[in-house]
Amino acid sequence: MAEIDRTRIASLTEEQQERFRNRTGRSAETFARAVRSMPGGVPSSFQENDPWPVYIDRGEGSRVWDVDGNEYVDFHNGFGVMCIGHANPTVGAAVKAQIDRGTHFAAPTDGSIVVSEELVRRFGLPQWRFNNSGTEATMDAVHLARGATGRDTILKIEGSYHGHHDSVMVSVYPPLEALGARDDPVSVPYGGGTPRALTELTRAVPFNDADALESVLEKIGDRVAGLIMEPAMMNINIIPPREGYLERVRELTAAHGVKLIFDEVKTGCTIAAGGATARFGVVPDMITLAKASCGGYPGGAIGMGEDLAAIVADGTVKQYGTFNGNPLVMAAAEATLTEVLVDGVYAELEASNRALLDGCQEIVDGWDLPAYTEGLGAKGCVIFSPERMYEYRDYLSGVDDDLSTLAWLYHMNHGIFMTPGTEEEWTLSIAHTDEDRRRYLDAFEAFAKDVTGG
Ligand SMILES: Cc1ncc(COP(=O)(O)O)c(C=O)c1O
Repeated sequence: MAEIDRTRIASLTEEQQERFRNRTGRSAETFARAVRSMPGGVPSSFQENDPWPVYIDRGEGSRVWDVDGNEYVDFHNGFGVMCIGHANPTVGAAVKAQIDRGTHFAAPTDGSIVVSEELVRRFGLPQWRFNNSGTEATMDAVHLARGATGRDTILKIEGSYHGHHDSVMVSVYPPLEALGARDDPVSVPYGGGTPRALTELTRAVPFNDADALESVLEKIGDRVAGLIMEPAMMNINIIPPREGYLERVRELTAAHGVKLIFDEVKTGCTIAAGGATARFGVVPDMITLAKASCGGYPGGAIGMGEDLAAIVADGTVKQYGTFNGNPLVMAAAEATLTEVLVDGVYAELEASNRALLDGCQEIVDGWDLPAYTEGLGAKGCVIFSPERMYEYRDYLSGVDDDLSTLAWLYHMNHGIFMTPGTEEEWTLSIAHTDEDRRRYLDAFEAFAKDVTGG
């Protein structure tokens, strides 16, 4: 494996940062204006970037243009939302038609029925409710698990992100020194604002380790309402489940009366028509969706079995929201799910992703980089770790932040729009072409050549 020369990485990073600053002067000016009215100059802290965010002017198909007029092929895709491509004409027409028929009633419309029927078909769970984001979906799921069981404790996977409500803002990206023992991790609040009492009610377990889950459930299983987890982790690059892991999780949670929640906000409608649930063949008690499912509009959904649906329907557990099932969002979701991301499209996304992953792996091998590739459906990444990762602790100890940051700079400076930071992956859309992938590979090859001094 190529020895990474840290002095070279530092000087390449400086060089690329300089290039980035020179290309994004209008973004710098926009940032100076934006910070006067928005903390950090952004609507959500996930959009922050050093030295400033790239402000986007517009998007079409696989491309976006920033306020400086730079054109990028978009592999960020709005944090994995825009599988349909930007300004998709089919979804656009459906939304425009709904605009002329009224945009909000807070009364059910046909769209919500069509979308719930389609989600039943895709994911297999028989009942669905809507809300407005991934955060609301996981919040409702946790609430429902507690309401159904009369228990308070929630289990989650160490190093996973499920949105920004109090019950899941725990052990998201805890630093190494705060983790505690692997078989009894500390519940670490993610930022300020979460009451200590609530943090204590959420306990973390390591991913891909059913034995660790079993021993926790043996100790405190009768207090646990639910286990919320991504069936494949997608917020620390991508970590797929080990063979047999999800099956054992299903058995253990069922044995202890613990509701199993698959958070499919990222995997749902991107790695198969029926998400991870269909792909891995393990059926949870609840599924949470958002992101790609609503074709670029702010919607979320929660799927559940008949037993859980009954306590929502009879009002035992309250599931509310003024904008739930909003007609514009439902029009976008209906067009996305029934006309654009139809079943056959997933094989095409998978093939396109495979070609990009293979191309990246060839470059990794050719330049002997300390990295490997991982992907599922429309999503993939190069992971800058010499060893394969199975859980968050591997990510913390294995991923090379300097290389990840430098790769991001090379991509941005070569016209590839990517999420900043070390934890994300790319998301392909139906609009991405061979030429788009070629551009990605050219940028990555330039990076690989320079970091190895080739
Ligand atoms: C797995 C997962 N769950 C939930 C969320 C929260 O979704 P939202 O940002 O729509 O609130 C995210 C967001 O990235 C996510 O990745």
